[in-house]
Amino acid sequence: MEKKIIYAIILTAVIAGGGVGITYWALTQPSTDRLEIYHWWTSGGEAAAYDALVKVYQSQYPATYVKNVSVPGGAGYAFLTVIKALALAGALPDAFQMHAGYEGHPYIEADMLTQLDDLWTAQGLGAVIPAVVGDMCKYNGHYYSVPVNIHRTNVVWYSKKVIADSGIDINNVTTWDGFFDACKKAKDIGGITYPIGLGESWTAAHAFEQIVASEGIAFYEEWVNGHVNETSGTNYNTLVAALNTYATYLSYTQGSNTNSWDTETKKLIANTSAFNIMGDWANGEFLKAGQTFLVEYNVTQVPGTNNMYGLCIDTFQTPKEAPHSTNSRHWLEVVSSKAGQDAFNPLKGSISARTDADLTKYGPYQQDATSDFKTATYMFPSVVHGSGAPEGFKVELQNIISQFVSDLNVGTAATAIANLANTVTWTTVWDITP
Ligand code: GAL
Repeated sequence: MEKKIIYAIILTAVIAGGGVGITYWALTQPSTDRLEIYHWWTSGGEAAAYDALVKVYQSQYPATYVKNVSVPGGAGYAFLTVIKALALAGALPDAFQMHAGYEGHPYIEADMLTQLDDLWTAQGLGAVIPAVVGDMCKYNGHYYSVPVNIHRTNVVWYSKKVIADSGIDINNVTTWDGFFDACKKAKDIGGITYPIGLGESWTAAHAFEQIVASEGIAFYEEWVNGHVNETSGTNYNTLVAALNTYATYLSYTQGSNTNSWDTETKKLIANTSAFNIMGDWANGEFLKAGQTFLVEYNVTQVPGTNNMYGLCIDTFQTPKEAPHSTNSRHWLEVVSSKAGQDAFNPLKGSISARTDADLTKYGPYQQDATSDFKTATYMFPSVVHGSGAPEGFKVELQNIISQFVSDLNVGTAATAIANLANTVTWTTVWDITP
């Protein structure tokens, strides 16, 4: 069957399933001058941030007709299926949302992305984007994407009201014992049935990943280098310890369900849950709901990860087959610019990927996060958000964790995770314990 027909069938099926949203900008413009972008930013905060970014582009290129295609589903798991179908069909758009690190490798290896060293040089990006971020946009020493943000993953969000009503001293929530003690109080004193928010499977994997980090940066480094791959020994025992902690964690959640991350964040906004481990895109939802940081909500770091910064970085690129490659390049220039990032990130919850951000445009959470980023002892790339491990590992990990949320079988999950590491090819050597 012709590639484009396959693409049309898949896309039609997704659209019929109620998934994909398409919005057009500057509808009166001629359709030959176009920019077509795919992304998964559909929650309230995400959409507001994305719109702000497109507005910056549109202010610089008012004649261009922008087509936005959004595929709902946090963290882009549903998106991946759509974008891969486009890639297979030879129909990639002008740019698409893609995490830094491993996530871009299949496209680069298939020679589908334009090398962007000249853009990085022309825009002076090397001087303003920290090396830890820039390196994740490279493959074999060359740039293939530009970052729009830096999200932090190891954050515990909490409702200040629930914490106060439950008599919890948040300063004690620096260890897992302290955290679980606080959950017990939220339940017994605060009357919160499920103190910890937990939604669909990737959110469960997200929480588990933070527990892996809490086992120490050396263990995390082993994990993202594919060395947690034996069913006995020190690494295996640490993996088992992480799963045991996770089992206790799950006992304070509602368990297996299909709620989106933003639905679970809204429970904090409504004071019906106490805590939620989620990346700082959650900040965008609090802001969208009109809540004020330090008044209604606050954060603490995931227990045991205080000096660490978990990295989740969104990027864009220029596919070689981009129908409008000049517009794609202009989009990348806007995405990586100070103006673009300072419009997008204050609403998104992330910090700018640039060191010259105008912090007066950012709220207090992000000002704190910016200073934490500068002083963090360790940075670790997220597996669940596509950076730290090959796609096969990320996708199957989610399934294993999903099963674990249902059956709490530590031995089965630990064995499956260790064996999984041997089924994929680890090509990046992470050095995160300098
Ligand atoms: C992450 C993405 C963020 C945010 C989040 C929830 O993977 O990098 O920008 O959108 O998923 O959808």
